[in-house]
Amino acid sequence: MPNTPRRWPRIDGIAFGGDYNPEQWPESTWREDAALMQQAGVSMVSLGIFSWARIEPTEGSYDFGWLDTVMDLLHEHGISVDLATATASPPPWFSRHYPDSLPMTRDGVRLWHGSRQAYCPSSPDYRAASMRLAGALARRYRDHPALVMWHVNNEYGCHVAQCYCDASATAFRLWLQARYGDIERLNSAWGTAFWSQHYADWDEIIPPRTTPAHPNPSQQLDWMRFSSDELLACFVAERDVLHAITPDIPVTTNFMGAFKPVDYFSWAAELDVVSNDHYLIGEDPAGHQHLSMTADLIRSTSGGAPWVLMEHSTSAVNWQPRNLAKQPGQLRRNSLQHVARGADAVCFFQWRASRAGAEKFHSAMLPHAGTDTKVWREVVGLGADLSALAEIVGSAVEAAAAIVFDWPAWWGVELDSHPSVDVEYLPLIRDAYAALWNRGVTVDFVRPDQDLSAYRLVVVPSLYLVSDAAAANITEYVRGGGHLVCGFFSGIVDTDDSIRLGGYPGAFREVLGIRIEEFFPLKQGEVVSLDDGSTGSVWSEMLHPEGADVETRFADGPLPGWPARTRNDFGSGVAHYLSTRLDPAALATVLDEACTMSGVASPIITRAGVETVRRRDKRSNTSYLFVINHAERDVEIEIDGDDILNGKAAGGRLVVAAGDVAVIRETPTSSRGE
Ligand code: GAL
Repeated sequence: MPNTPRRWPRIDGIAFGGDYNPEQWPESTWREDAALMQQAGVSMVSLGIFSWARIEPTEGSYDFGWLDTVMDLLHEHGISVDLATATASPPPWFSRHYPDSLPMTRDGVRLWHGSRQAYCPSSPDYRAASMRLAGALARRYRDHPALVMWHVNNEYGCHVAQCYCDASATAFRLWLQARYGDIERLNSAWGTAFWSQHYADWDEIIPPRTTPAHPNPSQQLDWMRFSSDELLACFVAERDVLHAITPDIPVTTNFMGAFKPVDYFSWAAELDVVSNDHYLIGEDPAGHQHLSMTADLIRSTSGGAPWVLMEHSTSAVNWQPRNLAKQPGQLRRNSLQHVARGADAVCFFQWRASRAGAEKFHSAMLPHAGTDTKVWREVVGLGADLSALAEIVGSAVEAAAAIVFDWPAWWGVELDSHPSVDVEYLPLIRDAYAALWNRGVTVDFVRPDQDLSAYRLVVVPSLYLVSDAAAANITEYVRGGGHLVCGFFSGIVDTDDSIRLGGYPGAFREVLGIRIEEFFPLKQGEVVSLDDGSTGSVWSEMLHPEGADVETRFADGPLPGWPARTRNDFGSGVAHYLSTRLDPAALATVLDEACTMSGVASPIITRAGVETVRRRDKRSNTSYLFVINHAERDVEIEIDGDDILNGKAAGGRLVVAAGDVAVIRETPTSSRGE
């Protein structure tokens, strides 16, 4: 993985801060904000994300006076600005003047203004107004010394990822014409001979609006592709305006982790800096693992380059059914998990807790109760930690294993009218990730068609849809000596969602050495036994080995005696196949063995619940070992280096207390981690 950020905001050390919404407060508060930010070590804030109505109170008339004051004040206090283009929430005047810009649901219902993000991504009026606003801001602040990055829009697609209005239909047709050129190619790709769906003219095509029965699956798949691209086009339009006026200022927009509607692998190439928002699901006992997974995914979209944690929460959010506060120490652990996994900026939503509005019960860096609070003290403490860690900026995370992640395969596998509604993408990804996380193995996420040669082990939890090129890529990886673990219902269709004929798993029959004759999905909640004492759920299938060895068989369920796990020695490599959703312990065993066989190890041997990740600065060949103790017991580890956070040479043995974090600057050795 590279060690070079593509572009990075002009900030020393790890950037630290949050969303700053001064328009919610009287001017008298701003000076106090700046002073307290300085006290906490804040170095960058995201300003103006929801300020459109304040910047352009009526169409075409701008009020920059207040923003000038805030920009100057922040600069005087040494705080840099990630300035938003403010286009995430059009003001009421906009939807009043341009009612056709309001988004429409699949059922034809218009969504009104009065919350946020009430715009259709294909609306020409929205596109023009957002570009105008971005241009006005860029011209106003192009030379302002506080400006270090542009924050375009906010969480594209968070509330409206797809719009089904007529403007969207027109844009969809243009997108399809560019993809297929000829209407008969579209008819063939969509399989429109089925149910009399043949299109004689492009104008007959509409978005997959509510229909009497299942809409055409290939149409739905293209609709997902189009909708992701259409949001990206909104970003690119603003970005190009900004690049033209401020070519030296990097441009970002904030991602939302594993967010289904938007293919961040394809987006990341268009961003100067990748940034992400992550919120824990408070009631998820494995929330910290999910955090790690999201951070690894985002680092991977960024090609391994450092990324910005643009938002997370200091404590509770406001949008879950029960919004749990963070335990003491959790804010620190969560923040440093992101840093361990490649974030070189740690920011929160938001600086000061709102007094009014839908998010007034959302935590912030500065709580309603002020500075004599757990949250404020932890924010100040984190500022100090991040400043102590300044030297790690630009170092890269080390990973020898990879999990294949692919948005189109996700869209495809969760289409309707499939063998089982229980085959869901993320749970399968999380199963594999959890097993590797528990073993202390750091993973990158990879696209199925990218070069895999850097990895000793590649796991494909689910890859229902795969291109010929990607299938060949995975096959050649194994032939060349790679180690593959592949899950059920993979390799089934091509990129049009047409079945690969001749027996499943079409694209992977050769590399896996198997042929599947028929699927036997399991009943809801059904658990079947395997002959090694483990269990499976969700899926089973009639599998014929064609060269592969059978490692485990079903002992009961619909297919007693049929293979449940196989292994195929292929070329110089090995390919394992799992034909059911293994229970967590069984999957852990399979992946443990695969790690051992392929030579994948954790940075150090520790205990359950202790997260260890290594970052390495290739320029100085210095490595940094993060040890994050999520467990309720202290852990003692062998180390060779200094604990940067505690500022002491620890060499030999180090106790990391329950809930605590250590970051060790390791003593260079010629062999470590190579
Ligand atoms: C994010 C959003 C922020 C804020 C936050 C609350 O989705 O970008 O503006 O709403 O959630 O958790």
